[in-house]
Amino acid sequence: MPDLTPLLAFRWSPRAFDPSTELDLEEAASLLEAARWAPSADNLQPWRFALGHREDETWKRILTCLPLDDQGWARHAAALLVGAHTGDDGRAAYDLGQAVAHLTVQATALGLHVHQLTRFDRAGLAAELDLPDDIRPLVVVAVGRLGDPYALPPELRDAETALRHRRPMASLLLG
Ligand SMILES: Cc1cc2nc3c(=O)[nH]c(=O)nc-3n(C[C@H](O)[C@H](O)[C@H](O)COP(=O)(O)O)c2cc1C
Repeated sequence: MPDLTPLLAFRWSPRAFDPSTELDLEEAASLLEAARWAPSADNLQPWRFALGHREDETWKRILTCLPLDDQGWARHAAALLVGAHTGDDGRAAYDLGQAVAHLTVQATALGLHVHQLTRFDRAGLAAELDLPDDIRPLVVVAVGRLGDPYALPPELRDAETALRHRRPMASLLLG
C-alpha cells in the first residue's frame, strides 16, 4: 500500500471523545484559519461557521438538533462546529467540504479528532442559530481529544474498535 502522510493516515472519526478537555482559543483559531485558506471556485469562499464550546449557548443549540443517539456521544466533544454555505448550487457545498477537509487535517496536526455529521435537523438548526435564508447549514463537526472507547454504550464500542474499510483502489478508477 502506498504511504500516506501521517496527517491523513492518523485521521479517523471517533465517537469516544474526552469529556474533560476543552478546545482552547488558539486551537479554535487554528482550525478556522485552516478552513479560511482552503481553495474555492472563483475564490468565493462560500463557507460560514458557527462554533460552540462545550456547555455554551451555541453548543447547546447545535447539540439539540442532532439525532438523540448522536447527542449521547457528541456532547463529550470539546466543541461543535456548524459548517454552512452561501449559494444553493453544488459548487458551494463542494467548497465547504473542502474547507472542512482542511480543518480536519489541521485538527490532526494539533492532536485533535473530528467527527462530521450531516444527519441532523438542518431547518431546526438554522432557526436555533437565527441564520438568514441564504446561509445553509450542511455539516456539524464534533472536535475534541480522543476518549475511552469503553465508556461508550456497547453497540457504539464495537463500531469504535472495528477495522475501518475502504473500496479497493481498482474500483476508484473509471474506464
Ligand atoms: C460529509 C460527511 C457526513 C457524515 N455524516 C455522519 C453522520 O451524520 N453521522 C455519523 O455518525 N457519521 C457521519 N460521518 C462520518 C462517516 O461515517 C465516516 O467518516 C466514515 O464512516 C469513514 O470513517 P472514518 O472517518 O473513520 O475514516 C460523516 C462523514 C462525512 C465526511
